[in-house]
Amino acid sequence: MKREKFGSRLGFILISAGCAIGLGNVWRFPYITGQYGGAAFVLIYLCCLVLLGLPIMIMEFSVGRAAGCSIALAFDRLEPLGTKWHWYKWFGIAGNYLLMMFYTTIGGWLLIYLFKMAAGSFEGMDTTQIQEEFSDLMGRPVLMTVFMVIVVVMCFGIVSLGLQKGVEGITKIMMVLLLALLIILAVRAVTLPGAGAGLEFYLLPDFGKMKEAGVMEVVSAAMGQSFFTLSLGIGAMAIFGSYIDKKRALPGEAVCITILDTSVALLSGLIIFPASFAFGVNPDSGPNLIFITLPNIFNSMAGGRLWGAIFFLCMFFAAASTIIAVFENIIAFAMDLTGCSRRKAVVTNLIAIILLSMPCVLGYNVLSGFAPFGEGTAILDLEDFLVSNNLLPLGSLVYVLFCTTRYGWGWKNFLKEANTGEGPKFPKWVRRYVTIVVPLIVLFLFIQGYWSKFAS
Ligand code: PHE
Repeated sequence: MKREKFGSRLGFILISAGCAIGLGNVWRFPYITGQYGGAAFVLIYLCCLVLLGLPIMIMEFSVGRAAGCSIALAFDRLEPLGTKWHWYKWFGIAGNYLLMMFYTTIGGWLLIYLFKMAAGSFEGMDTTQIQEEFSDLMGRPVLMTVFMVIVVVMCFGIVSLGLQKGVEGITKIMMVLLLALLIILAVRAVTLPGAGAGLEFYLLPDFGKMKEAGVMEVVSAAMGQSFFTLSLGIGAMAIFGSYIDKKRALPGEAVCITILDTSVALLSGLIIFPASFAFGVNPDSGPNLIFITLPNIFNSMAGGRLWGAIFFLCMFFAAASTIIAVFENIIAFAMDLTGCSRRKAVVTNLIAIILLSMPCVLGYNVLSGFAPFGEGTAILDLEDFLVSNNLLPLGSLVYVLFCTTRYGWGWKNFLKEANTGEGPKFPKWVRRYVTIVVPLIVLFLFIQGYWSKFAS
């Protein structure tokens, strides 16, 4: 069977950006920035993107393009004879499933909030009522399941149409709409009376705040966020490398995708912080930020129902484009491993993902007695922790070692693949840095992440 390819370069860039741009940008980035004190965190985060994320993304694309398949077979094809790098595929595959096990549930919440906003259900509610709305939703497993299933069926429906017609066609439209709507929202937010304080918090670094949180903790959170937002470490990007030709060198493509991803994160901040400060609410409420803080803000804003609906539509597009991209990867595993058809892979995985998403849904109600990290935490937090704090950094480490050491695919092969085609090339002089410094930083920050989570 001939492998499908993307229809155009733009398609490749927008889909990879669609995979990268997701809840990490519109939800995680603003709340983490809020918690770690604003601009100083943003600065460190930008450094992590360039110094760690970017080279690793180029490596993922190179492995994908050279192997011409998903992570299910990529390491088997490229590793030196007799080595065991291919064992990593099981972690990568597990990572994609684990991510979807909670992502689909949040996708469902966003859809519910989109409908509620559009229907004006929050109008006239006070802060406590809005808070209760969210707790009430958490207590309704059936409703959450229905919306999770709608999201899963919709996204698999698109994947089942094929790479070009489904994934490429739909994601392209969603990405363009997302960018346009975010710009409109950002203009609205920064022109709100009183938005200035929010801009200051977001754009003027205050390292004092960072010291309070602990500098190393902030740095390790920034690294975690940069891997999460760029979808690194579990082969989620590598798959798109396998769908492109060799006309363009990969560094330039990775730079474009990183810029798009970063712009969306920065734009979300530009919406959320000025709006929060304009209405006198603190942006450090954590994961609840978009479900509790924001509906309050839209309530007190003129035309808030419309702005709110547009906002949740953006959130939903961002989440859906990531889900579609990861589903594409998941069915590629199945097709690569078993040689089955796209349709069969879709049907089996549709059922599997629905079942696997249930623990997260039930974690807020039926199974709420299980609090993996203490009071107030749920199954979602455990799944997120496994992916974000473990599989992504360790997986990224595997990619780096695979591409730089002679025990793996090796520097020469990697460089040749990355630099094949037109456009900017991966500079040779960074070899020492990516071979020695990058793995050490990743390892150090990985350990630091555990330390700050469990020791303090
Ligand atoms: N980058 C995605 C986001 O920002 C999340 C993701 C992580 C997707 C890892 C795939 C792999 O939401």
